[in-house]
Amino acid sequence: MTRPYQGALIGFGFIAEKGHIPAYLAAPGMFEIVAVADVCAARREKARQVLPKARIYSDTKTLLAAEARNLDFVDIATPPCDHAAIAHAAFDHSLHVFCEKPITTSAADARSLLDHAQQAKRVFFPSHNYKHAPVIKAIRETLETGELGAIHLVTLDTFRTTHAKGVAEWQPDWRRQRKTSGGGIAMDHGSHTFYLAFDWLAAEPTSINAKMSNLSTFDTEDNFSCTVTFPTGIAVAQLTWNSGFRKVIYTIHGENGAIKVEDDDIEIHRKRAGGKIDVEKLSAASHWMDASHAEWFKALQLDFVAAIRKGEWVGREARDAAMCVTLIETAYASARADGRQLELTPARATERAAKAG
Ligand SMILES: NC(=O)c1ccc[n+]([C@@H]2O[C@H](COP(=O)([O-])OP(=O)(O)OC[C@H]3O[C@@H](n4cnc5c(N)ncnc54)[C@H](O)[C@@H]3O)[C@@H](O)[C@H]2O)c1
Repeated sequence: MTRPYQGALIGFGFIAEKGHIPAYLAAPGMFEIVAVADVCAARREKARQVLPKARIYSDTKTLLAAEARNLDFVDIATPPCDHAAIAHAAFDHSLHVFCEKPITTSAADARSLLDHAQQAKRVFFPSHNYKHAPVIKAIRETLETGELGAIHLVTLDTFRTTHAKGVAEWQPDWRRQRKTSGGGIAMDHGSHTFYLAFDWLAAEPTSINAKMSNLSTFDTEDNFSCTVTFPTGIAVAQLTWNSGFRKVIYTIHGENGAIKVEDDDIEIHRKRAGGKIDVEKLSAASHWMDASHAEWFKALQLDFVAAIRKGEWVGREARDAAMCVTLIETAYASARADGRQLELTPARATERAAKAG
């Protein structure tokens, strides 16, 4: 029997403790987290309690110097401003990287990370965990039957009553501070919105126009809306941290019907002969209210292992993650230009590198 993949976790905050670690601990034959780095003493203490056998460090550099030769991968769960530097350091030590979203705070950084993964021949795998939510899997299964025909319009609404908070011991409001987050709700949630849209419209986007506003005293937006154009159709997204309710509402429209998702509830509308429409109602418990999404990480981490085993250094998920950051960056430029439609410069260099590999 082969030994479990040895991993180091960088950033022992909310999503690491409540999402990533429970999933690793549920697969002891597959993963072992042997080291943790966190800049916050109270979080290092928490890591000691949760992972008593792990070696704990206060910075990535010291951890890698001491541990890299016995590691297979690094899991990055710090705020976005540090993702790129940590991932580059991991590739320099020939380690695979699992990285939280958004993978970087600029499109140029995202391309350079993917290029580095390709050169180092190490996997870069983003945390696109929403793809493993039961409702999202139910949507995928319906789309795969082909019964709805070509999809031409999708809407993705994420309504929150406040910004998500980081752990109290560090900087709970880092998502609102540009220097740490890189942006507001678009930077924080845009990746989930956009990679789902790529999947449902089965294409890469070609342009975006966006509007945003900020009702707070922080330096990041808390209302965001955009229209993304694809060769196959249109995606319209609305994200807010100022809603009166917390809800996820997605709609997907095809030539022969539509899907509507409201949290765990799914409606599939099928057009029948004579203009009749059949409606099927399903429910898939996705626990949207539980922000840790612990269950979804188990499947995601297996996808990461599959990529390592295949030697798929920069796969579709990684390319989508870079495109998400490109879209967010272009959306900000559009919003600054009063919502003007801007063409996208796709991560061509990355695609070329991936094909060359
Ligand atoms: N995929 C998802 O569903 C999901 C959900 C929540 C958060 N996230 C992402 O996970 C990341 C972390 O978010 P969070 O909510 O867990 O934040 P958090 O504030 O709870 O945790 C961040 C942790 O990182 C530590 N840290 C900060 N800078 C560091 C550095 N340079 N080196 C080592 N440790 C460092 C902090 O001390 C803290 O313990 C973000 O990128 C966020 O977008 C993803």
